[in-house]
Amino acid sequence: MGEGVRTVDLFAGVGGIRIGFERAGFKTVFANDFDKSCKETYDLNFSGTKLTVEDIWKLDIKEIPEFDVLLGGFPCQAFSIAGYRRGFRDEKGRGNLFFRIAEILEERKPKAFMLENVKNLKSHDGGKTFKVIEETLKKLGYHIKSKVLNSMAHGNIPQNRERIFIVGFLEKEKAEAFDFPKETPLRLNFRDFTSNEAEDKYYYNDKPLYEKIKNDVNSEFTVYQWRRRYVRANKKGVCPTLTANMGLGGHNVPIIKNHKGIRKLTPRECFLLQGFPEYFRLPNIADSKLYHQAGNSVTVTVIERIAKNMGDVLKGKTMNSQSNLSFIVERDNSNGNNRIFPMNTLKN
Ligand SMILES: C[S@@+](CC[C@H](N)C(=O)[O-])C[C@H]1O[C@@H](n2cnc3c(N)ncnc32)[C@H](O)[C@@H]1O
Repeated sequence: MGEGVRTVDLFAGVGGIRIGFERAGFKTVFANDFDKSCKETYDLNFSGTKLTVEDIWKLDIKEIPEFDVLLGGFPCQAFSIAGYRRGFRDEKGRGNLFFRIAEILEERKPKAFMLENVKNLKSHDGGKTFKVIEETLKKLGYHIKSKVLNSMAHGNIPQNRERIFIVGFLEKEKAEAFDFPKETPLRLNFRDFTSNEAEDKYYYNDKPLYEKIKNDVNSEFTVYQWRRRYVRANKKGVCPTLTANMGLGGHNVPIIKNHKGIRKLTPRECFLLQGFPEYFRLPNIADSKLYHQAGNSVTVTVIERIAKNMGDVLKGKTMNSQSNLSFIVERDNSNGNNRIFPMNTLKN
């Protein structure tokens, strides 16, 4: 574990990566994102280091406090097949944010980093984009490993979410010693994360879409998506990838059926299905913003396992590549809902 190892949380969003690393003992000394509404969620949940709201291009790299590990789930639009397919050539500069990370690595030379992005980063532009990323990181002196992990296979979270993780160390031996977490059985079902009670506004009953979906949304054990013209049923018990698009309104939020009818997942359920703990507080802001934040975030339990392995390697300990997940689920008999309890609490 990474007790006391200092991290900077870049493209921090609402802090999903931070929770995972702090559970593995790391200490966050700086956090940045340029989205003000993320700050509302972030600062409500973390004491100690608060979110600095600033465009990363405007940050003075010298002013970032001393740190050991750089963390960044940098924006994926430009790299995503679902996005613009423009990679480094995105004229809004989105793809180029990787090069800002490279500048920070070059100037500050932290011992290690972990970057996260969509799976398609690897195949974008026939693999050229990823090659540039790898070569840039290697030129900066880092020894890297990368792997696609799925939340349902590596984080015991019933969400089909594949993301690529790139981990680098300055010391070659550390990179060699590091391994990504192995697969772990999925013991939970999306129903462990959904509530019997949800406000009426989340139900489609009586709304125009109801007629179009009522025949297809017919099982309480499946999560559905509305794909403009038809309903798509997902793998039994598993939620589809939660995306930032959920915040765009419409019917982008996954749909479930229960005894009361057909409804979309609530923002709270989306956070839980990203492995956020129940005690994570959601500010009183528009649902659209919360859906966006949840979809943009990471699956905390996957991050936690990577962080534990990085921590062990950085501390020179033998890595436990089958590290356990630090949360448990119990049924609350008073209302029939399951509750997800973290084994340890948020640290500063
Ligand atoms: C994919 S999200 C990462 C979310 C984060 N990992 C979490 O757990 O919530 C990317 C984040 O990068 C931020 N971002 C995009 N461009 C930025 C820039 N130029 N400067 C600072 N932050 C930026 C966005 O606001 C967004 O929150």
